[in-house]
Parts: sequence; structure tokens; C-alpha cells
Amino acid sequence: MSDTVKAPLVHASDEFISRAHVDASGYEAMYKASIDNPEAFWAEHGRRIDWIKPFTKVRNVNFDFGQVDIKWFEDGTLNVSANCIDRHLVTRGDQTAIIFEPDDPATPAQHITYKELLEQTSRMANVLKEHGVSKGDRVVLYLPMIPEAAYAMLACARIGAIHSIVFGGFSPDALAQRINDSEAVAVITADTAPRGGRRTALKSNTDKALTDCSDRVKCFVVKHTGDQTTWVQGRDVDLKAEMAEAAPYCAYTEVGAEDPLFVLYTSGSTGKPKGVVHTSGGYLVYAAMTHQYTFDYHDGDVFWCTADVGWVTGHSYIIYGPLANGATTLMFEGVPTYPDAGRFWEVCAKHRVNQFYTAPTAIRALMAHGPDHVEKHDLSSLRLLGTVGEPINPEAWNWYNTHVGKGKCPIVDTWWQTETGGHLITPLPGAVPTKPGSATKPFFGVKPVVLEAESGKEIESTEAEGVLCIADSWPGQMRTVWGDHQRFQETYFQQYKGYYFSGDGCRRDADGYYWITGRVDDVINVSGHRMGTAEVESALVAHEVVAEAAVVGYPHEIKGQGIYAYVTLMNGVEPTEDLRKDLVKWVRQEIGPIASPDLIQWAPGLPKTRSGKIMRRILRKIAENDYGALGDTSTLAEPAVVDDLIENRMNRG
Ligand code: WT7
Repeated sequence: MSDTVKAPLVHASDEFISRAHVDASGYEAMYKASIDNPEAFWAEHGRRIDWIKPFTKVRNVNFDFGQVDIKWFEDGTLNVSANCIDRHLVTRGDQTAIIFEPDDPATPAQHITYKELLEQTSRMANVLKEHGVSKGDRVVLYLPMIPEAAYAMLACARIGAIHSIVFGGFSPDALAQRINDSEAVAVITADTAPRGGRRTALKSNTDKALTDCSDRVKCFVVKHTGDQTTWVQGRDVDLKAEMAEAAPYCAYTEVGAEDPLFVLYTSGSTGKPKGVVHTSGGYLVYAAMTHQYTFDYHDGDVFWCTADVGWVTGHSYIIYGPLANGATTLMFEGVPTYPDAGRFWEVCAKHRVNQFYTAPTAIRALMAHGPDHVEKHDLSSLRLLGTVGEPINPEAWNWYNTHVGKGKCPIVDTWWQTETGGHLITPLPGAVPTKPGSATKPFFGVKPVVLEAESGKEIESTEAEGVLCIADSWPGQMRTVWGDHQRFQETYFQQYKGYYFSGDGCRRDADGYYWITGRVDDVINVSGHRMGTAEVESALVAHEVVAEAAVVGYPHEIKGQGIYAYVTLMNGVEPTEDLRKDLVKWVRQEIGPIASPDLIQWAPGLPKTRSGKIMRRILRKIAENDYGALGDTSTLAEPAVVDDLIENRMNRG
């Protein structure tokens, strides 16, 4: 903490500043305007997208627990796909909308123009319509990072259907759970997904998932690799073949600003993943505006966000934000280390990328392979770098700045969440000098507050440390949890009345800069992906030999946090190395590879209070190898279990 206080300000070059959308005084003025008069501010910026029927009401927001209700531009109507495609045709029909870079570098890249995007999206929309998908229906997407994923999102938006993307790394069980919770009428998948030279069997996973779903769920299959799959007559549809036969134009459907655009499932501290609901008007305004300002995007730039469309980052900054702005956005099917650890930089050089946005975990992983992989590629096109997902550590920041940015690219550290739709705290490059490791200042219209965790009292002084809440709404905010508005209110508005509670802790320094200190709930951040410890625990206890399990995070060099599981076996079960491997495999099957425990410790007992509550604070300390400072253990029912856990701890690093 002390070194962050002293952190030097990093200024953008004069050249960068001279062409940036906003400068320092511009940021101050616009921010002030957005807070002093949000109605007027958002009335103006709400018009950056095309409305079919213009809105007359700007905002209608209630953060009071019990009556939480969030609406933006509520009487306006629009179509999101028309905003991302049709409205650009006059000026940039032949401009590349999407550059598709395949997993295998030997396969040629595709440059999809806005005109072609309209045709492919239309064809897919027509196929969906012919099979009965209509406005308000949910469609689950379980796809590789291929152009069809973009067409599918935009095709749903075009006909007013609500997409719900499930990351291709999730298991059949996780997929089934999401299909069922959203009551989807269809799944769009592909035969197999090539990544890093290997293939994930998406269709076969979908077949497994669908055995647990309603018989009425249709299955649209993109034959992408041509790999053999099973085929269920009457249920499965050859999507590409039908697109080829479908009409090349589909008229877009008028939807209300508050009609849902998508549902995206994300983990919380309790229970099963929640379906985060984003609506059409406010979300699109916010995604587009943050994309333009945070990345200082200018017409003609090539923008690359390395996320997967299965995460919100991919929704907002591969598809909706860039395309609403008429940008050229790059979509990459592969992984950073295939065929070697220079792939990202090779792709940047090949497509003359101007803005590059990735996660600290990827930077750390590449850093470990040494700078030679970077140095051999021409990165002169890069003007700006970004990060998201977790705080960036100084080593990774320096490496990114020196080797990738050559000391001339501002680095924007963007803090936000699935729930927020777009960046909430982020530097505006050229306008806000950065400090390595800090997400810096709020975006326009965002009012962060720091509260005392216990009392919930707002800390008014500039320097503050506590929990991070947001005092008022912004257009990109989630509106509800799919099918469970009560859970929405309880999760975000109950603990601290009148505020949106982010679940993160933070510190505000003397310059008013925000430093995110990590989750304050039972959520861990593994490689920039959010994982509920409760989810991993329930997967573990579903195994027949497991009596009890407790899962915590611990510092991990590459992933940020690793998954540490304490497992108590059923009486008489022998703990063996094979069993350890079995349990890891089990969790991968239940949830997916991202949930694989890194360390499993056999725990004859878990530290509990006399009322039976597991004391996670102690388990976290032991997992962090910081068992000297366990604090008060006097309330434990059986203090001796702690000694055993310390003695047999797994992380002695
Ligand atoms: C959580 C949200 C938003 C897309 C990526 C993850 C952490 C995110 C930062 C950052 C520090 C960050 C927070 C947040 N986080 N960005 N720049 N600095 N922490 O989305 O899965 O919804 O996770 O990621 O803890 O609450 P998500």
C-alpha cells in the first residue's frame, strides 16, 4: 500500500494528447456536467445511437431496497443490430467490420465488411425465424470465437431474441443449467472448436446437455471444422447450409429501450450462477461511449480485444461497442501461446492493430516466455494498451509498457464487472495520467463511493479505504437477475442501503485515484474469471467420497488467484494421489476447466465455530502460507484441527 501512495503519475505523450478525444480539462468539465446534470448529459449522449422512436424520458431510477427499479431512455425504441450494422452502410459499407484471425496461423484471415455482416446476420436471422424463434425468446450460444458467433449475437438482436452466451470451456452440466434457467428455445453451437491446435467437442457437449433439457429445444449447428458429430433428426439444424438458402436480407424488429438484449450468467458468493440481464438502449449507449473514450478510438483504427465473447468483455468490446461505433474489430479464435508465445504480437503486426486490450494474467503468462517473442514483431501500429479483470501488478505493467508499448502507449486499467455493462473506473488516455496498478478515475456519470465495511458509513475524505459502491445509476447497469428480481436486490442493494454494492474493496488515494483491492465476498478471481467458491464446493461434495469441502483463493503467480480446496473424505476412504487427480477431473466435468482446483489438501476436519460455521478467514490464511497471523481462534469448536491443517498445508511457496 505504501508504495502505491508514492506511485508516480505517468503522462501520455504530447502527440497522443494532441489527437485524443478529450484532454485533462475536457475530462474534468464533462465529468462535472455528467454528475451535476445527468438528465441533460445522458439526453445528449443517448443520441449517439439511432432511435426508431426517440426517447423523451432519460432516466427513471430507484436504488431503494425493496423497490429497486432501473430504466434508461424507457420510451425510446430501437434495434441494436441496425445500430451495429445498417446505419453504417451508407458511409462504410465496404469497410472491414470484423477481422477474423483463425486458430491456425496458416489459415487465411477473413475481412468481413459491414455489407457482408448485414448479409450474414440477415441470413442467420431468417433461419432462426423460420424455425420459430421470435421476439423475447432466449437463445443460448455455445460457440467458438468465429464470425458466426458475431452473426448469432446480431441475428438475435435483429429479431428481438435474447441471447445468452455460454463460454465454450463450460461443461455440459453448466450448459444445461443455463439453458434451463433461461428457458431457452434453442442452442446455437458448432461441431468442434479449435483452440491452440486442440479441439473442444462443443456439439457432443451440447448433446449431453440437451438430455437434461426440454425436448423442444432446437439445436442449430455451425459445421466449422467438419468434424464428425452425431445428428438428431428433427432437432438439429445445419445452420450454414440453411443460411445459404435463406434470404440475404432480414428487416429488423423494433424493440423497447428496456427490452433485454442478453442474459449472461456469472458467479456470485452463494448459490448457482445468476443470469445478469442487460437491456438494449442504455447498454448500447454505454458500451459504445466507453469504447470510444476509454480506448480513444478514432475512425479507421483497428481495435483488438482478446477476450472470448463468452464473457462480458467480449460482448461489450468485441461486438457491441466497436460495431455501434462503426469500428474495425478483431476476433481471434486462438490462444496467446499457439503456435508460440509470440502469437498476440504476430497478430498485432499482421493486422496493424492500434488498440490492444487484454488481461493481466495473459501478460504474466507471456512474460514468463521472455521478451524475444515480442521484440521480433513490428508493433509500431500500437497506440494504446488496455487491461481488465484484476489489478495489474507492477512487474506485468512494466513489461507491458516497455516491451509491448515501447514506452509510448498509455495503458488503461479498466475496472468494471459483468453487471456494469462497461467500464466504470478507468483512465481516459491523454486526459487522466495513470498510476501503474490503479484504475484511476470514474467514467462520465459514475459516482463511486467508499464505505466503511461494517457500518456502511460513507467515507467523505479523499483518502479512504473500504468497500466500493456506486451511488447512482449509469445507462449500462444490469437491470435484474433473470427470473429473480428479489435476488438482484438482495445481492446488490441490501447490504448497503441506497447504493449499488460492487463486491470489491478499494482504496482512494490523496489524488482521488481508485485502487481496487479485490473481492470482499466469497468470490475469487482466477485468470480474470470470476469463480464462486460455493460453486466449486458444491461440485466437490457432489462426489461420492467427499464428506465436506471448503474452497478459498490463494496468490498464484500467473492466474492471480489459484483455487485451494480443503477436502474431508468420507469415513474409511483412503486419501491417495489418484483420488486427488480424480477430484480435479470431477470438478472439470461438473463446471469446466476454469474451475479446476490447483491444490487439494486432505482435511481430517475443518475449523468451525461452535455453531458450525466454517471459519474461512483461517483457511485463507493457511492457503496463503501466512499461518503466523491467524488471529483469534478461541471461538473454534476444535482448535486442534488448525494445527493439522498448518502442518499439512500445500502452498509452502
Ligand atoms: C470483477 C468482475 C469486467 C470484465 C472482466 C471481469 C475484478 C475487473 C478489474 C480491474 C481490479 C478488476 C473485480 C470485479 N476486476 N477489472 N481493472 N482491476 N479488479 O468481469 O467476471 O464480472 O468480474 O473482476 O473484482 O468485481 P467479471
